[in-house]
Amino acid sequence: MPTTYPATEIAALNARFEDATPQEIVGWAVEEFGARLAVGASFGGASGMAILHMAAQLRPSIHVFVLDTGYLFEETHQTMREAVPALGMTNVRSYRSPLTHEEQAERYGSALWMRDPDLCCELRKIEPNRRALEGMDAWLTGLRRDQSENRADTPIVSWAPKFGVLKVNPLANWNEAQTWSYLLANGVPYNPLLNQGYTSIGCYNCTVPGVQGRAGRWQGFEKDECGLHT
Ligand code: ADX
Repeated sequence: MPTTYPATEIAALNARFEDATPQEIVGWAVEEFGARLAVGASFGGASGMAILHMAAQLRPSIHVFVLDTGYLFEETHQTMREAVPALGMTNVRSYRSPLTHEEQAERYGSALWMRDPDLCCELRKIEPNRRALEGMDAWLTGLRRDQSENRADTPIVSWAPKFGVLKVNPLANWNEAQTWSYLLANGVPYNPLLNQGYTSIGCYNCTVPGVQGRAGRWQGFEKDECGLHT
């Protein structure tokens, strides 16, 4: 695993890809990193589904992982069950915290997410994400610049020091409408909650419908990122 990537190389890649299509960027990543490329997908939002479709078409055996916090909506599991065969993905794995919900409550108190959501995300998403990326060189995500103010400057390629991989965001430049056109044109399955007023879908205990963008996540807290991308 590389310990970092030269900044000049990252800058050159960003310049090269700023006007490229997401498919060209995914194609480059699949060629460049082969079996050491992983896709992290929540099976919640639309952009993750588009990335999965693009990547699986080129390499059905690509390492796809989902961080299963144990608080995912039933609709999210259903989307996974439907999408895996539909997209022909042959290498999909779930990563969970070694702590059960009960053990977490014993150690940190009950309903940790209501008191310290950052710690809950760290235990149930960030730590499993580290394991999911072990031995990998690069990580494909579905981040888009139009998703929130915090994501407005998302680069297409960056070094992710938390995880020791090159992070590639092929959809950084796409907007919501482009993402949906792609899903519908290609018949890609998506989370049915997106038709029921949810615009951003994470854990059921920290997600509410009826609010635009990422504001439906972690209500009541100055937080709109779980920490995977910060
Ligand atoms: S989050 O940070 O709010 O949870 P969001 O739902 O916008 O993320 O997804 C952004 C990207 O984060 C996804 O495209 C995916 O790469 C990664 N991600 C978020 N949640 C998960 C998950 N449960 N499993 C794997 N990857 C995830």
